[in-house]
Amino acid sequence: MTANRKSPAPARGKLGVLLPGLGAVSTTFIAGVELARRGLGRPIGSITQLATIRLGKRNEGRSPKIKDFVPLAGLDDLVFGAWDPIPDNAYESAVKAGVLDRHTHLEPIADFLKGIEPMPAAFDQHYVKRLEGTNVIPGTSKRQWAETLRADIRRFREEKGCDRLVMVWCGSTEVFIKQGPTHETLAAFEAAIDANDPSIAPSMLYAYAALKEGVAYANGAPNLSVDFPALLDLAAQNQVPVAGKDFKTGQTLMKTVIAPGLKARMLGLDGWFSTNILGNRDGAVLDDPESFKTKEESKLSVLEYILQPELHPELYKDYYHKVRINYYPPRGDAKEGWDNIDIRGWLDYPMQIKVDFLCRDSILAAPIVLDLALFLDLSARAGFSGIQEWLSFFLKSPMHAPGIYPEHDLFIQHTKLKNTLRWMMGEDQITHLGLEYYQAPAVEAEIR
Ligand SMILES: NC(=O)c1ccc[n+]([C@@H]2O[C@H](COP(=O)([O-])OP(=O)(O)OC[C@H]3O[C@@H](n4cnc5c(N)ncnc54)[C@H](O)[C@@H]3O)[C@@H](O)[C@H]2O)c1
Repeated sequence: MTANRKSPAPARGKLGVLLPGLGAVSTTFIAGVELARRGLGRPIGSITQLATIRLGKRNEGRSPKIKDFVPLAGLDDLVFGAWDPIPDNAYESAVKAGVLDRHTHLEPIADFLKGIEPMPAAFDQHYVKRLEGTNVIPGTSKRQWAETLRADIRRFREEKGCDRLVMVWCGSTEVFIKQGPTHETLAAFEAAIDANDPSIAPSMLYAYAALKEGVAYANGAPNLSVDFPALLDLAAQNQVPVAGKDFKTGQTLMKTVIAPGLKARMLGLDGWFSTNILGNRDGAVLDDPESFKTKEESKLSVLEYILQPELHPELYKDYYHKVRINYYPPRGDAKEGWDNIDIRGWLDYPMQIKVDFLCRDSILAAPIVLDLALFLDLSARAGFSGIQEWLSFFLKSPMHAPGIYPEHDLFIQHTKLKNTLRWMMGEDQITHLGLEYYQAPAVEAEIR
């Protein structure tokens, strides 16, 4: 991320939000924005729409809404585009996903949703075994796919009269791909596209097309996608902000709330067993062991970084951590995530915490798509480029600079997000030192 501060340019005109993947998350997001615009629903869970930010000292009484503090695009300025190998429009896809109530939330905006048809996708079943796609860009040339995606982006910008664009990957989790030589440099990556190399997954082509077109890119899945040197170099070259990976929603959200609490109180951990049942299309895709492996990597790293066993071997050296996801069709999108946490207290007495989170995956993910889209657009207007670590708050497996560990603790992420916004707008950082409230006036003046 660049370090020079420049006030963000105003958010004039339309912001196009491009979504590879028009499934449960995307349609819940699009429908939610449209319902909110019409006053038919509330954007609960969205930081950009609801959160406030304290500025200055606690006795100054300055806590504006974030959207009144930084120049964000308004909901009325958003237009949507998507690609999907399944030809359903946003209405049909939302009905199939079964997240939103058809009568209350889909029928009133049916015409709007039916107007969003997915563009043919860059898709190969090799990367998502459980899906069959018919709405795909013809041929098997990855170069051709990338060029078609770039042309789609340009056409969308033109046809919808967009002032700016952002892209948020809401497509399926692809099979696990390890970073290799083709991901090291832009030249190697482009040569691999031309050679149809299997190490180049479709999600990488969307990211590549976005960056080539100067479009900020966020990755909502755990796929490698944009998280490797070749595309990070391209982002730097074209001065485009990127963020990823994997929306932080149900179980991992809870994990990054509870684990920092245990660590803050120096309580030990013997084991953390996490299991999920879900029955949506994402669940079906994750039922394939190769896609699950990508997700598993993303979910497992969280505790390691929060608990720092190397600094606290007496508390966290040998804890057992297991994550399971089971596809269970009757549940649809209404996932259930169980956690059994075995902890240890004073004199090594064992205790247990049980969490049973009956959550709704896409209801938790939709506001994250909105916030990532609006904040990435803000980043671009503030002249930020490359990895936007301040957006880690929304992500399960945050991208980070080489040589530093990712920050997973939700509360540190939250402070970082707000301090970045303060910095962007030329306001003081909040350190929470607060000594001045307890000093005599003369000392207070000195502290200032
Ligand atoms: N819902 C959550 O809480 C949550 C949390 C973290 C991450 N995610 C990730 O977000 C993504 C979307 O989740 P969802 O519940 O909407 O899944 P979904 O299966 O309902 O939707 C994904 C869509 O992506 C499409 N797709 C697959 N490959 C594509 C390609 N190459 N190009 C364009 N479209 C493609 C699929 O056809 C499908 O319609 C998944 O990767 C999921 O793992 C979701």
